[in-house]
Amino acid sequence: MIKFENITKKFKDKKVLKDISFEINKGHLVAFIGASGCGKTTTLKMINRLIKPSSGKIFINGEDIEKKDVIALRRNMGYVIQQTGLFPHMTIKENIEIIPKVEKKNKDEITKRTMELMEMVGLNAKEFLNRYPTELSGGQQQRVGVARAFATDPEIILMDEPFSALDPITRVGLQEELIDLQSHLKKTIVFVTHDMDEAIKIADMICIMKDGEILQYDTPENILKNPVNEFVSEFVGKNRIWTSPEFIKAEDIMLDSPVSCLSNLTLNRCLEKMRSNKVDSLMVVESKTKKLLGIINAKKIQETLDRSKEVNEVMETNLISVEPNDSIIDILQLVEDNNVSTVPVLDKNKRLLGLITKSSLVTTLSQQFIDTEEGMLS
Ligand SMILES: Nc1ncnc2c1ncn2[C@@H]1O[C@H](COP(=O)(O)OP(=O)(O)O)[C@@H](O)[C@H]1O
Ligand SMILES: [Mg+2]
Repeated sequence: MIKFENITKKFKDKKVLKDISFEINKGHLVAFIGASGCGKTTTLKMINRLIKPSSGKIFINGEDIEKKDVIALRRNMGYVIQQTGLFPHMTIKENIEIIPKVEKKNKDEITKRTMELMEMVGLNAKEFLNRYPTELSGGQQQRVGVARAFATDPEIILMDEPFSALDPITRVGLQEELIDLQSHLKKTIVFVTHDMDEAIKIADMICIMKDGEILQYDTPENILKNPVNEFVSEFVGKNRIWTSPEFIKAEDIMLDSPVSCLSNLTLNRCLEKMRSNKVDSLMVVESKTKKLLGIINAKKIQETLDRSKEVNEVMETNLISVEPNDSIIDILQLVEDNNVSTVPVLDKNKRLLGLITKSSLVTTLSQQFIDTEEGMLS
């Protein structure tokens, strides 16, 4: 959709973008994040040609934007900036309708669209349309800014720290509204921010920049879990994963090779196997497919008098299990609701991939507190 190919930018002798390349998929929201002066705004402004690269090419839908008519290019892009950019001498209605009017769209259609947009950004049309920007709070003005960016139903929306100047509560409200809008409108959104929480919350992909270079361009999950270097992990914050525990997945905390046995093993043999492996339960699997058939625990065997029986006669087959992508939050809930101490991790075909035990959960959770304490000491 949007593609940067070896883009550099020099202001006089200063290189502010150093050969950056990346692609943004259609319908994605990508957050560019980094310290002040690292080149985020410069990158953004190249997309609507407010800044021209010193070298390299930018493509939108495969077309070199340098070869496109700049007016047509910008018409297909909404632009929201921190200082709203609303015209102070125009009413809210006039501000929103300025571009549709320039495009000479039908008047009734424009009005209808304005009403929809106000609704979309959570502002009462009757109350606000005839006011002037200064008669609105910062958050309300920013909502109008967002509405205006969507007015021409553009394919791409550029947002440069749109919520940074707002108080935290208003900011969170607008972030949530943007997530909501994006979930049904699926625009391609390039969003500049310096707030990691904001990026993690709203973005499909995060691009971390430093001194005109891209350090990591990845999903929020990977940025949290696998920062490419010390700078990224410092930037993200060591304990950040704990503010987003939904990113901790079953596969991250499971034991990889749980002790298992076949269904025709006798209970006596099962006990032996438990003893030698120092475990109190066995996963009973089908030999070829590794499909999980049941679980047997030591207590159950102790209750059974005839230990020459095969495990398939007494094993528990009513199983609570999770998939590799289930989050630690869901797993904790499951353990609590079902009062189980082990949860097998199965793939779509019910094959056994690993095992989560109460103790692996506790270890993971206590890690949080250890890390936090270290963090507090340092
Ligand atoms: N018009 C300009 N002339 C000279 N230097 C500029 C200009 N615009 C930006 N810069 C410099 O380029 C660097 C990147 O700026 P910018 O893209 O605005 O950073 P960010 O948005 O990440 O804070 C900064 O060092 C800034 O001072
Ligand atoms: Mg900037």
